[in-house]
Amino acid sequence: MSPDHRQRIFHVLDPRQFSRADLDELCRLTTRVRGLAKTKEGARMLQTMLPHKRAMLYFTQPSTRTFLSFNNACHVLGIRTSEIRDPATSSEVKGESFEDSIRTFSSYVDIIIMRTWGEGMARTSADLMDRIRRRIPIVNAGSGKDQHPTQALLDIYTLERSFEQQGGIDGKVIGFMGDLKRGRTVRSLAHLMENYTGVRLVFIAPDAFQIDAAITDALAARGIAFEKSDDLHDRLPELDAIYITRLQTEYDTASESGGFDHTRFHFGPRELGMLKREGTIMHPLPRGPELDPAVDADPRAVYWRQERNGMWMRVALLMKIFAVEGEVDFG
Ligand code: CP
Repeated sequence: MSPDHRQRIFHVLDPRQFSRADLDELCRLTTRVRGLAKTKEGARMLQTMLPHKRAMLYFTQPSTRTFLSFNNACHVLGIRTSEIRDPATSSEVKGESFEDSIRTFSSYVDIIIMRTWGEGMARTSADLMDRIRRRIPIVNAGSGKDQHPTQALLDIYTLERSFEQQGGIDGKVIGFMGDLKRGRTVRSLAHLMENYTGVRLVFIAPDAFQIDAAITDALAARGIAFEKSDDLHDRLPELDAIYITRLQTEYDTASESGGFDHTRFHFGPRELGMLKREGTIMHPLPRGPELDPAVDADPRAVYWRQERNGMWMRVALLMKIFAVEGEVDFG
């Protein structure tokens, strides 16, 4: 695709805004910036790309990886950052509305990257930006139980790299295990899978924690094959990748998590023996008892690489948002 025909990205709110061409381009750009950053000269070149930009990291729901990877991705590109991680330290405690707070941030910075407890808050912020004169991009870095689009982008990049010698993601069987009802990473990645041909998704969870109809209806509408199962051992041998997620206890309202049987939905040394030799094991992290640390040493476990990929994918995404990707040659 010629640079003139590449899609611009402004707000990043939902994985469904990305086309296959966007995903392929972001993956190529990510690989290119990783390579550049390995040398002093390349790192210096990246640093000079956006020193005139400032970013606000508004993370009022806890985060380690997404916060640190966005913060460091900004620094890779020379973007200066400021942060609010606890609304108790902002004028929201004086009664300032969420919308007025976002508008205030936008007076000082050129992009707002936000993680929130509530669903739809990034979209509300983007709608506000679209109504005001100093319109800046909003990036959803995790919106309650709903979506986590930038995690899904780094997951796609990790899958693409894992399947580099196996023809890429098309045609692969991807299993998802864990709290699929409340886990936003699975919801977002499932949507991005709609861009690939011949894939089959297997959702492995107890009934009470299964993926909801909003996702499966969308998959069905796009002709993506999927199945639901509550038997990990039965399904493991057919999977090219298993995407494991933790129990989302922070969303419990009545001890729902107590009904999750970790003995049946657990990946450890025994399950390693059931997975294909060239299979891939992913987890967005942080992990709980569902993933045994004894798996870490297996070459099929890519979750530590996956979190590092997140920083490079976010560098690529910021370059696209600020339209500087043309400054590097990435094919
Ligand atoms: N994967 C992920 O979103 O991790 P954090 O909650 O630590 O950001």
